[in-house]
Amino acid sequence: MAEIMERFAICHLNDIPSRQARGFVLARRDDDGTVRSWLIFVLRWGKQVLGYENACPHEGVHLDWERDQFLDGDGMRIQCGKHGALFDFGTGECVAGPCMGERLIPVPLVVDEDDDICVVGVTLEEDDDFDSGQGVE
Ligand code: FES
Repeated sequence: MAEIMERFAICHLNDIPSRQARGFVLARRDDDGTVRSWLIFVLRWGKQVLGYENACPHEGVHLDWERDQFLDGDGMRIQCGKHGALFDFGTGECVAGPCMGERLIPVPLVVDEDDDICVVGVTLEEDDDFDSGQGVE
């Protein structure tokens, strides 16, 4: 297992169509050394990307009850597939539904010089046991 600090490229910008989102299952190492599965998703608008943990503040379950379906019918809000909570893109705040006023947990991302989307500020591990880039079943 190779430890990776600071930046971890999870996909190329072109792997996510503009105005769409994609889920990832990464391997995150916590401060106590425990490696755990870490579900996130990335939204893309042109060259801009936003990341959040793939966990609804209502019941803690993943948002995409169909693979990579993170947006509402209009594509204007993030939507939880379980009870339909709606979240603002930019803030992750729930604006309608059972967890009104609560927020998704942001994931810091950068797009590097090669247009790779990178997670920053967390310790990730390369581990084939985790299903990186395959979304949520
Ligand atoms: S679990 Fe997401 S709205 Fe209930």
